[in-house]
Amino acid sequence: MSAHGFSLNGCELGVATAATQIEGGNADTNWHHWAAEPGHIKDGSTPARAADHWNRVAEDTALLQQLGVKHYRMGLEWARVEPERGVFDDSAIEHYRDELTRLRDAGIKPLVTLHHFNNPWWLETAGAFEKRDAIDAFLRYTRRMVESLGDLVDEWITFNEPNVYVVACYVEGTWPPGSRSPRGAQAVAQNLAEAHISAYGLIHELQPFAKVGVAMHLRVFRPASKFNLRDIGAAVVGGFLFQSALHRAMSTGLFVPPLLQPKGVRPGKYYDFQGVNYYSRSMVTGLADGVAKDVAVSDLGWEIYPTGLAIVLGQVSRAYPGPIYITENGIADAQDAFRPRFIYDHLRAVVTSGAPVERYYHWSAIDNWEWADGEGPRFGLVALDYPTQTRTMRESGRFYADISANGAITDAAYDRWVAPCEYLTNADTQ
Ligand code: FCB
Repeated sequence: MSAHGFSLNGCELGVATAATQIEGGNADTNWHHWAAEPGHIKDGSTPARAADHWNRVAEDTALLQQLGVKHYRMGLEWARVEPERGVFDDSAIEHYRDELTRLRDAGIKPLVTLHHFNNPWWLETAGAFEKRDAIDAFLRYTRRMVESLGDLVDEWITFNEPNVYVVACYVEGTWPPGSRSPRGAQAVAQNLAEAHISAYGLIHELQPFAKVGVAMHLRVFRPASKFNLRDIGAAVVGGFLFQSALHRAMSTGLFVPPLLQPKGVRPGKYYDFQGVNYYSRSMVTGLADGVAKDVAVSDLGWEIYPTGLAIVLGQVSRAYPGPIYITENGIADAQDAFRPRFIYDHLRAVVTSGAPVERYYHWSAIDNWEWADGEGPRFGLVALDYPTQTRTMRESGRFYADISANGAITDAAYDRWVAPCEYLTNADTQ
């Protein structure tokens, strides 16, 4: 008999997806255009296939029920509901109403992401968030969504991983629009923060009891060499530039350089929950961020570092009091060889951290189109065969359903699903 079980202490489970990654179809977004150009996506795939979720909402809602989750984090495809600047498509809005109604009927509470790296093409070609008028466009879209869906949704995420969006799209240039401009990155970060703060106010005006937050990507930054002053400095500066400055501005309205305090923004509290997306740790050398040696890794080579989740939760709960939702945490594991252990280790970190974590949304419900990595990485509790679109519950999905049902990981579940799993290290795979 093992004694590995533990209770989640009331933390409720959900799963997360994003519109562009699962819906399929030819929505006119930045990603559809970017993926059409050769060389941008590792396997040459585009989001037009994805999980064809747009046509399979009923089937996918049934899968969520099988997973036994109380919560579902989903995204809206802005380009579908507002295909031309200022012109809304009622049939697309009706589609989302239908999906949200099904969720409600299934007893699953939605948390809706308004922006998850996805811009309508008309916004992208006008400079997107490099331009201040994107703030007004985002607010108009937000207003329309809250007015049209607000009877079915009262929990919103304005922006998913604004820090990743800034870095991948405007610093590294690996995501659309493929720009490498410090000045552009600064402008985008500034405008996203101001857009969030205004949207926070607007949503509360329309829906006083709404819960609104941002899903921040939070990593642990460590110097690759503990004794190298350049690495130590780079880890501190990298952490600040990559996440802390923007996180603070969006949460508290306090803008510090390189961001600038906007005239109309007062310091305050601009979140009802802290949304944390946690995946890994960065070992920093100069400007490059790397992976430690001889550590457990995912199929994508990302370090599996559950302690980092406890560290991040400690930092967030000290800096930004209030409830925390882990809005994403998951792993690329095509063989489903160690996902149960990953879930176990991370939930354990949540519980032992003592932080006020009310929700944990696993990324992802189903395998999906992983941005520049295409269809390769497998993050789903449910496996997807892309050509036939067949969905198959993975063992880790059954494990997750068991945890949902018990509000705990029981000893029996540990023995059945976790004990047989072993991580691979990056020493094994070299
Ligand atoms: C996060 C993204 C999400 C997904 C996971 C693996 O950074 O928010 O869309 O791609 O990584």
